Amino acid sequence: MKNKKENNITAMGKRILIVASVLMVLAGLVGMLLEVHKMSQDTDLTLVKHDIVGDYDELYDEYFPRHYHATGLLTLPFDDIVEPFEAWFAGDRNMSRIDYYYGMDKTIQRGDLGKHGILFKIVPMHSEMKPSNKDFMSCWYKPVPKWLPRAGQSVIPTNLSEFKFVSEETHRGMPCFKYERKYKRYNKSNVYSFYVTKNTPHRPLRYEMVGYDDMLTSHYDHYVLDYISFEPWSFNRSLLSLPKNSSCDKKAKKLRSHYLANPMAEYMHFKHHKDYELDKTYDDYKATHGKHYTTAPEHERRKHIFKHNLSRSDDDGEGFLCRYIRSKNRENLNYKLAPNHMADMTEQEVNLHKGLLHEKKLKKSKSNTLAFNESVVHTDLIPHQLDWRDYGAVTRVHSQGLCGSCWTFSALGAVEGAHFLKTGELLELSNQQLIDCSWPAGNHGCRGGFQDRTLRWVKRNGVTSRRDYGPYLAQEGFCHCGKSDNCTFTHISGFSKVKKNNSDALKVALVTHGPIVSSMNSDQKTFRFYSHGIYDDPKCGKKTNHAVLTVGYGADDNVPYWIIKNSWGHLWGDDGYIKIAMNHDRCGLTNGPLLAIKKDSSIAEFPLKTLNKVPRQSITFYSEEELSIIPF
Ligand SMILES: *[C@@H]1O[C@H](CO)[C@@H](O)[C@H](O)[C@H]1NC(C)=O
Ligand SMILES: *[C@@H]1O[C@H](CO)[C@@H](O)[C@H](O)[C@H]1NC(C)=O
Ligand SMILES: *[C@@H]1O[C@H](CO)[C@@H](O)[C@H](O)[C@H]1NC(C)=O
Ligand SMILES: *[C@@H]1O[C@H](CO)[C@@H](O)[C@H](O)[C@H]1NC(C)=O
Ligand SMILES: *[C@@H]1O[C@H](CO)[C@@H](O)[C@H](O)[C@H]1NC(C)=O
Ligand SMILES: *[C@@H]1O[C@H](CO)[C@@H](O)[C@H](O)[C@H]1NC(C)=O
Ligand SMILES: *[C@@H]1O[C@H](CO)[C@@H](O)[C@H](O)[C@H]1NC(C)=O
Ligand SMILES: *[C@@H]1O[C@H](CO)[C@@H](O)[C@H](O)[C@H]1NC(C)=O
Ligand SMILES: *[C@@H]1O[C@H](CO)[C@@H](O)[C@H](O)[C@H]1NC(C)=O
Repeated sequence: MKNKKENNITAMGKRILIVASVLMVLAGLVGMLLEVHKMSQDTDLTLVKHDIVGDYDELYDEYFPRHYHATGLLTLPFDDIVEPFEAWFAGDRNMSRIDYYYGMDKTIQRGDLGKHGILFKIVPMHSEMKPSNKDFMSCWYKPVPKWLPRAGQSVIPTNLSEFKFVSEETHRGMPCFKYERKYKRYNKSNVYSFYVTKNTPHRPLRYEMVGYDDMLTSHYDHYVLDYISFEPWSFNRSLLSLPKNSSCDKKAKKLRSHYLANPMAEYMHFKHHKDYELDKTYDDYKATHGKHYTTAPEHERRKHIFKHNLSRSDDDGEGFLCRYIRSKNRENLNYKLAPNHMADMTEQEVNLHKGLLHEKKLKKSKSNTLAFNESVVHTDLIPHQLDWRDYGAVTRVHSQGLCGSCWTFSALGAVEGAHFLKTGELLELSNQQLIDCSWPAGNHGCRGGFQDRTLRWVKRNGVTSRRDYGPYLAQEGFCHCGKSDNCTFTHISGFSKVKKNNSDALKVALVTHGPIVSSMNSDQKTFRFYSHGIYDDPKCGKKTNHAVLTVGYGADDNVPYWIIKNSWGHLWGDDGYIKIAMNHDRCGLTNGPLLAIKKDSSIAEFPLKTLNKVPRQSITFYSEEELSIIPF
C-alpha cells in the first residue's frame, strides 16, 4: 500500500519535473516534492489535513482518525436516561450517522446534500391502536441552517485545544490519560473530562460533563458518554444512505429543530456552535442597524462588545444572561430567577422542551367526554389551599429531555391522580408508550401531541405502567407491551373540559378530581429561569404552547397562586414545580384545562376528606459519597 503510493508520487514527480525543468523553476519544486514525500509516510488522511478548515486541532489528530466507527452509551443521570449509540463518522466528507437504541432510531448527517446540508431522522411509527405488526419507519428531515457548519457529527470533541492534560489514571481497567476543560460562566462551573487510552492505537474511553452552580450549590447538568468500541472506519457510502424502504422522499416532513434531528449535537456542542450563532446574530444586528466595519480587528472588537453587552431579546450571550438574571432579581419581584440547565440553550433548543399541539378546531366527541358541572359544588366547601403532593397523589418529577413530549407528562399526571383517587395506589404510567403507540390519535411522538386526543386514546386503550413498559427513552421507539406481554393497563372512564377563564371551576375540578391537565404559555425567559416564589410576569401571554399539570393552589401573603408540575426535571424551578399567580389568569393557565375521570359518577365528591397527608419524598440523585468526589 505504502509502496504503491510512493511509486505514484514518484511517477507524478517525474511528470512534474519535466514540466518544471521546462519552466526553469526547479529549485522551488524540489522543495515541494520533499514536503509531499514526508507527508505520504503518514496516513492518507494526513494529506488533506492542511486543506481542512474544520475544527480538528492537533491533539485530536494525534490521537484519533477522522473517519471512525464507535459504539457507546450516553447517560443523563438527572433524567434517568441511558441511550446506547453507534456512530459512523466521516469527518473529511462532512457526513456521519448516529443510531440510538441499537438502530431503532437512526440519524444521518449529510453535509453534501441540499444547500447547506440535510439532517435526517428515521424513527419507528405505529399505525394501529394496539401493539401489532403495524410498525413502519418514518423519516423526517431538517435542512442544515445556514449558520451551522455543514459537517458530520462527531461523538467525541474534535477540537481539544482547550483541554489540559491532568493525570494518568486507570479507567475501566485501562491505563489512560485524563484531560480536562474547566470554565466558569455566570457563577456556574463547568468541567468536561475526557479519558483517552494510553496504549496505542489511542481510543476514547469517556467524555463527561458536570455543571455545578456555585450560587445554588447544586448540579445543573451532568452527562456522560462511555465509549465501548472505537476504531478507524473506511468510508462506506451505503451506510450513510437512507434506508431503501424509508419513505423520506414522499412523506418527508420537516423537523422543527436540528437538535431533534441530531440529538448528539446537544452534548458535543460548546463554543464553536455558539460562536456560529453569535456570528449570525451579530450579522443580523449589523444588517438591521446598517453597520459596517472596515477592518477585521474593528469587526472583532465590536463583536466582542456586542457579545458582552447584548440586550436583544433572543440571545443568551453570557454577559447578557447574567445581567438579566441579576437585574430581574433586583426588581424585588415575588419570584426569583436562577441560571439553570437551560441557560446555555438557544430559543430553538428551549422550544424542544415543549411539544404541545393545538387542534385547529376541537372535535366534539360526546362519547368520550363527561359532563362536568362545577356549579353543583358549593364553592364555600372548597378548601383555602390544596397540594395533591401532600396526599401522595403525584409521581416524582421527570424530565422530557430533548423530546417534545410534554403532552404525555401532562395527560398522564391527571390519569395517575385519577387512578390514585380510585385505588389509593400511586402508579407511574408510561410516557414512552404514549410516544410510541398513540400516533393513530394524531400525536407526533417527540415532535408534539394533543392533550384531549391523548386522553381519548387512553380511554380507549388504557396505558401501562412505566415498570411494565420499560424506561423513558426521550426518542421514538417501537410500540410494544400488549396483553400477551402481561402488561397491565390502567383505564379512565372519560375526561371532561373545565370551564375556561374561571378559577373557581378549576379549583372545584382539582378538589374533586385530582391533578388537572393544563396548558400555559412558556415563552418568557423569566419562566425558563424561574427558581422560586410566585411567578407573575405580565409579559407571560395567554397563548398556550406548553402542557403542564396543575396539582394544587394556595396563597402567600394574600397572593393566590396555582401549583404547577413541569416536566423539565427537578433541577428546573422549585424542585421541578412553579407557583403561578392566579390573578389576571397569568400565562393562560385556565385556558382549557381538562380533567381525567376514573369513575362515572359522584363528581361532586370530596376525596380530600377521606385522605391523610403523607410525608413528601425527598429527592436524592447523588449520595453524599458521590457528591464529595465532584471536582469543585
Ligand atoms: C479550536 O478552539 C480554539 C479555542 O476555542 C480556537 O482558537 C481554534 O481556532 C480551534 N481550532 C480549530 C482548528 O478550529
Ligand atoms: C465540508 O464542508 C466545508 C464547509 O463547511 C467545505 O469547505 C468542504 O469543502 C466540505 N468538504 C466536502 C468533502 O464536501
Ligand atoms: C426495511 O428494510 C430492511 C432491510 O430490507 C428490513 O430489515 C426492515 O424490516 C424494513 N423495515 C420496514 C419497516 O419495512
Ligand atoms: C456567585 O456565587 C458566590 C458564592 O459562591 C456569591 O457570593 C455571589 O453573589 C454569586 N454571584 C452572582 C452573580 O450570583
Ligand atoms: C458497506 O456497508 C454495507 C452495509 O452495511 C455492506 O453490505 C457492504 O459490504 C459494505 N461495503 C464495504 C466495501 O465494506
Ligand atoms: C452597552 O449597551 C448600552 C445600552 O444599550 C449602551 O448605552 C452602551 O453604550 C453599550 N456599551 C458598549 C461598550 O457598547
Ligand atoms: C349546572 O348546575 C346548575 C345547578 O344545578 C344548573 O343550574 C346548570 O344548568 C347546570 N349547567 C349545566 C351546563 O349543566
Ligand atoms: C405472563 O404471565 C404468565 C403467568 O404468570 C406466564 O406464564 C407467562 O410466561 C408470562 N408471559 C410473558 C410474556 O412474560
Ligand atoms: C376572564 O375573566 C375575567 C374576570 O373574571 C374577565 O375580566 C375577562 O374578560 C375574561 N376573559 C376572557 C377571555 O373571557
